[in-house]
Amino acid sequence: MKSRNLIKKEYLSKIQEIKKHNKFYYEKNSPKISDEKFDILKKEILDLEKKYNFLKSKWSPSTTIGYKPSKNFLKSIHRTKMLSLSNAFNEEDLINFEKKISNFLNTNSLKNNIEYSVEPKIDGISASLTYKNNSLALGVSRGNGIEGEIITENLKTVNSIPKKINNKDFPKDIDIRGEVYIEKKDFEKLKDRFANPRNAASGSLRQKDPNETKKIPLKFIAYTYGFIGSSSFKKQSEFLGLLETWGFKVNKFNSIVKGIDKLIRNHNEFEKKRYDLDFDVDGLVYKINNIDLQKRLGFVANAPRWAIAHKFSANSSFSKILNIEVQIGRTGALTPVAKVNPVNIGGVVVSNATLHNEEEIIRKDIRVGDVVKIERAGDVIPHVLSVDLKKRAGNLKKFIFPKKCPSCQSKVIKDYNKNTKKFDAVQRCSSEGYKCEKIVIEKIKHFVSKEALNIEGLGKKVVEKFWELKFLKFPQDIFNLDYKKIEVLEGWGKLSSLNLKNAIDKSKNISLDKFIYSLGIRYIGQENAKLLAQHFQTKVNFCKMSKNFNFSLLSNIDGIGETQINSIKKFFSDHININVVQQLVSEMNVRDTKQSNDGKLKNKTFMFTGKLSKISRAEAKSITEQNSGKILSNVTKNLDYLVIGEKPTTKKIKQANELNIKVIKQSEWEDLLN
Ligand code: IVH
Repeated sequence: MKSRNLIKKEYLSKIQEIKKHNKFYYEKNSPKISDEKFDILKKEILDLEKKYNFLKSKWSPSTTIGYKPSKNFLKSIHRTKMLSLSNAFNEEDLINFEKKISNFLNTNSLKNNIEYSVEPKIDGISASLTYKNNSLALGVSRGNGIEGEIITENLKTVNSIPKKINNKDFPKDIDIRGEVYIEKKDFEKLKDRFANPRNAASGSLRQKDPNETKKIPLKFIAYTYGFIGSSSFKKQSEFLGLLETWGFKVNKFNSIVKGIDKLIRNHNEFEKKRYDLDFDVDGLVYKINNIDLQKRLGFVANAPRWAIAHKFSANSSFSKILNIEVQIGRTGALTPVAKVNPVNIGGVVVSNATLHNEEEIIRKDIRVGDVVKIERAGDVIPHVLSVDLKKRAGNLKKFIFPKKCPSCQSKVIKDYNKNTKKFDAVQRCSSEGYKCEKIVIEKIKHFVSKEALNIEGLGKKVVEKFWELKFLKFPQDIFNLDYKKIEVLEGWGKLSSLNLKNAIDKSKNISLDKFIYSLGIRYIGQENAKLLAQHFQTKVNFCKMSKNFNFSLLSNIDGIGETQINSIKKFFSDHININVVQQLVSEMNVRDTKQSNDGKLKNKTFMFTGKLSKISRAEAKSITEQNSGKILSNVTKNLDYLVIGEKPTTKKIKQANELNIKVIKQSEWEDLLN
């Protein structure tokens, strides 16, 4: 059982987190996490509150709506609060929603008989428009639901917002509410400035200068009212009809649906259709159509009891394949990538989705022109899940995978995997690294990447540009750039070119493990590079191995297997690679792996055999080395201790006994450390 304090601590840290992200999202229009992650965080907080009723915070999503208005604008208190909607993600949530309604109204007669106004939930920014005596008098953002920012002048620049309404039946004093949004095609022109259409709408709407807002083609769709005097309509659908006669745009996909089964069916169909729409939709809003029932049901803290938002999957969506490109990676792997119509998946606009390899394309029968389901889970590259065959036009051609590398025309090969006794699904360019242009570009990108040399200002796009301009051919060329040529490039200048020079100079100082990793040897990722650096200790030792072709020693390193050794061998069998390593070593200051020399195991040598308890042999070796001990890979007279775990190699024990070497248990080794 967790203590009350611990639960509180966990809760408050989540509140801090959501507070931070609220700020990024609402104040800066620049979210740092996806909507999906934001929703998960929100749900975790709400779940904790449900479970432990002593948890409360004024920053909790259960009490706040949106975010406090910014300081740029004057504020106005909403005459009727601007509420939020609770979310439903599946059938069960909808059943619960109806159950709560029946309980509240104390009736069973509504079961599966409630009529809903079903409205697409446009992913934009809500706004409240106050009309007095037929004229638009005030326009306010949602803000925190209680008070919003006065953005009247900005809203007046939106063409679809009527400024005057002359219909006789238009109320003399009314708040009309709806969504300000930007169409997908218009977002295309703004995509460098904003993460998604909603951020673009929010950012444009909250410009200080309305002339700036005017430049953006914002749209408005009306869907509800705030303050209203007397009214004659009895249904939400009726009100939507009135909005239209008054000159507001309403959603053409609004409909009326009865019963949960039909709601689900409609939701499934709409989810497939949404990529086709001109605007982003993140769910469907269900509102009880009968206004009297709405009035009886009223509200919980910040949401109506009579409405719910049935969200679409936050990590998948549909789009059309415009083209299939085959990209070449650092290790020569050919990856087919679908270029799709840009689609918003959980707040991120996706226009590329991986198809993995040729087998996957065949298995899923994916063709250019197909409508496909794309998944974007966490930070993994989006990928195509399946084809919607019902939407396939008759004449789509099968995709033919290239037999030659699209960059250097070398033969395309598949590696044979000795363990599985099968050929890999991935096809590779058979040329050796530096002979294929695309592979080199990827190698250089890897060399300067965050986990390797970490050079700020030398991102992927810049590497491509420098390559195109022939500033770079090999990784070592980054140390001999001509900054006079760089500073005159478009978007550069003296300062940025000087900053780049400083960043590159700084990167010359590097630890051995990062250096090894930066070489981009296949199968040598960060962890394996660390193991190698531990083993070699100095760049001199590392280079010696490549000169003497003494690779057999590598088999003594725990964690480095045949695959890695073969890959290292292959790497150093290419004279260009050897040349690159030599040049880099002479340009850079590659630091030796740190080794403390006065640890508890100083001057002692160890060897481990058998399975250890709680830790791996690799960790035991690393602990030994951290404490200045040395690891030997053979039982010789230089060995001080043979440490035995479960099922040790008996031959080693026998040899140790013959040489009078101390054979100790893991616990005795631990005693030496303490
Ligand atoms: S009704 C009292 N209808 O969803 C009900 N909201 O989470 C309050 N939204 O702030 C809103 N389409 O930005 C309603 N047809 C629709 C909507 C809609 C989009 C947004 C709106 C609101 C949010 C609620």
